[in-house]
Amino acid sequence: MNLDGKLHIAPIVPEPKNVLDVATGTGVWAVEFAQENPGCAVVGTDLSPIQPSYAPPNVSFEIMDAEDEWTFTVKFDLVHLRAIVSCFKDTKAVFKSALESLAPGTGYMFVRDPLMPFKFFTPPPEGTALAEWNSCLVEASQKVGMPWNRSTNYAQWMREVGFVDVVEKREAAGLSPWMKGKRNKETSLLLQENICNGIEGMSMALFTRVLGWSKERLLEFLERVKNDLRNVDLHVFSEGLMVYGRRPYPDEEPCGPSS
Ligand SMILES: C[S@@+](CC[C@H](N)C(=O)[O-])C[C@H]1O[C@@H](n2cnc3c(N)ncnc32)[C@H](O)[C@@H]1O
Repeated sequence: MNLDGKLHIAPIVPEPKNVLDVATGTGVWAVEFAQENPGCAVVGTDLSPIQPSYAPPNVSFEIMDAEDEWTFTVKFDLVHLRAIVSCFKDTKAVFKSALESLAPGTGYMFVRDPLMPFKFFTPPPEGTALAEWNSCLVEASQKVGMPWNRSTNYAQWMREVGFVDVVEKREAAGLSPWMKGKRNKETSLLLQENICNGIEGMSMALFTRVLGWSKERLLEFLERVKNDLRNVDLHVFSEGLMVYGRRPYPDEEPCGPSS
């Protein structure tokens, strides 16, 4: 989803002091946020130590499983999570940990994820590899108990664990430049490159370990999937989701605009 250069759209305090990026990956969001907010201490956490050793002085990285107990000693102005759809056994419990680690009354959680699988604006022809990839992904992720289409539940889960003022926004972007408009076409090409680069990593464990495909079969199949992603006649798009919500004050009734 295109945020026009912004790192998030939650209405946080003007000068945040403590921010957490959960499942930070290579830490790119944490580093950018720290550069934009030199007075803020930014913590990025992840299972894997793949963060850069050189980062601005106000960023630190910690190895942590977000599904374990959170033991931070500060309260955060913002907890950020991006591209986490495949990560957690119990995403709602992670949201609850985030809620409890936020500054009461003013702290926000902001989540940004794709709504998988990809969608077709017009029905695809029989035998389209990308349509098969979609079905396999949904089947395999369901089998391991981490369904990739669960981001549609985020807003509801946030309200259920106690967030208020929960706002959800969705946006669609083509995966090839078939939609009208310069902005749509540019966004689609960036997205397409991202997905073509990442699709092997997204698919390998689910297709080989869960569905029992050989690596060779998968790699050959993914070449056909990538051709479909580049095919402007297929009218494929990805829907993205952004949700944010606030931790209420202790004596505040949960009565935000969309609660
Ligand atoms: C798709 S990457 C997203 C990285 C980053 N948020 C971004 O947008 O660039 C998902 C990350 O989640 C991490 N991850 C998966 N399960 C996790 C868990 N239980 N606790 C913490 N991090 C986890 C992975 O190691 C990986 O770096």
